[in-house]
Amino acid sequence: MLDQSNELNAWDRDHFFHPSSHMGTHARGESPNRIMAGGEGVYVTDRQGKRSLDAFAGLYCVNVGYGRTEIAEAIARQAHELAYYHAYVGHGTEASIRLAKMIIDRAPEGMSRVYFGLSGSDANETNIKLIWYYNNVLGRPEKKKIISRWRGYHGSGVMTGSLTGLALFHNAFDLPRAPVLHTEAPYYFRRADRSMSEEQFAQHCADKLEEMILAEGPETVAAFIGEPILGTGGIVPPPAGYWEKIQAVLKKYDVLLVADEVVTGFGRLGTMFGSDHYGMKPDLITIAKGLTSAYAPLSGVIVGEDMWKVLVDGSDKLGSLGHGWTYSAHPICAAAGIANLELIDTLGLVDNAGATGGYFLSELRAALGDHAHVGEVRGEGLLAAVEFVEDKDDRKFFEASKKIGPQVAAALAERGVIGRAMPEGDILGFAPPLCLTKAEADTVVAATADAVKAVFAGN
Ligand SMILES: Cc1ncc(COP(=O)(O)O)c(C=O)c1O
Repeated sequence: MLDQSNELNAWDRDHFFHPSSHMGTHARGESPNRIMAGGEGVYVTDRQGKRSLDAFAGLYCVNVGYGRTEIAEAIARQAHELAYYHAYVGHGTEASIRLAKMIIDRAPEGMSRVYFGLSGSDANETNIKLIWYYNNVLGRPEKKKIISRWRGYHGSGVMTGSLTGLALFHNAFDLPRAPVLHTEAPYYFRRADRSMSEEQFAQHCADKLEEMILAEGPETVAAFIGEPILGTGGIVPPPAGYWEKIQAVLKKYDVLLVADEVVTGFGRLGTMFGSDHYGMKPDLITIAKGLTSAYAPLSGVIVGEDMWKVLVDGSDKLGSLGHGWTYSAHPICAAAGIANLELIDTLGLVDNAGATGGYFLSELRAALGDHAHVGEVRGEGLLAAVEFVEDKDDRKFFEASKKIGPQVAAALAERGVIGRAMPEGDILGFAPPLCLTKAEADTVVAATADAVKAVFAGN
């Protein structure tokens, strides 16, 4: 039994229903809780005064790092001036309009409008509704199915939890719901046929997608959604040529592409968007996390010009769009977004993500690549993962019950560095703030090597 003597701890156990947590062990005080109190740069501090290097930037979102007074002041100024007004029926604030313009200025070519929400999940809900609306306006009411991928992560709502391709988010929730389908994950390291080259595996994924579209009937398939690089499903960059081959199939059957850039948007891969990085030409882009670096909750759907024209036709025929949130384009969050995007520019964080990310990955590979239980060290920009295996030559995975990934993450946390044990595998993930320095990357690598050594000495 952990210490319950502290009053705040007791209230936490008794009253706070935590997301993505084990309800029983938390309530009974059998699993650790951590009450965070402060942050500066890449470091966070808890109420006990323990300082940790947060190599996952919260939930890959505090991209500019903690304690940025520029954003805090922008939030305060907006709160004093006008804390809230809605965005319905043509209303707005200077902050929300300016931010929309800043996003379009940074977005891939052909993007036209930004629909604001509060979370990545609600933005993906908006995507689905816009896709259905679009096909209804075009007189194709049967073209409604959405194809996602196993191991994709797109949120926790009913539809977005359905798009998510991880069992944990489906189990006992009666998900996934129709009309969502899942196709093969672009996970080269876990490919069934190990004789395949990356190009062959990318072609195999595109062939599987085409088979699914043909089996369902192209006239029923509306859209394909994917993260440029798989995030929560294991931090897995796509195999060479993947997006080119996938997009050729989508084009052939007139299927829209949604790039879920909740993690990759605003610099994480060393380019402003992951779509730029992989030559994707999406019709819709989901943004959240890095838009405000999580200083305030804000998300968005960036709508491409071609789709926008059809949506406009829709309101000319049907009247106003029946879709909105009270807090859409919330001015305080928009003010945070403006200050955040300005900081990303002035601090050169997109370039830093590319340069320091490259350094971090090569150092991780040098430190761990030859370890008998490290199957793969992979990454792109400031996203990286180490995947552990029982047997390297046979690519034999550990029994899930051994919880190797969580053990390594816990050992790392003891050494003052926060990484994340990713679901469905023994995978340690990293997504540090984009302001990470090489010296801080060295700290993460050294602590990881030490944690891995300690865990395998005991297993
Ligand atoms: C790619 C992706 N899409 C959507 C979401 C959902 O965002 P939120 O948790 O803000 O609803 C996440 C969250 O991690 C994500 O990684």
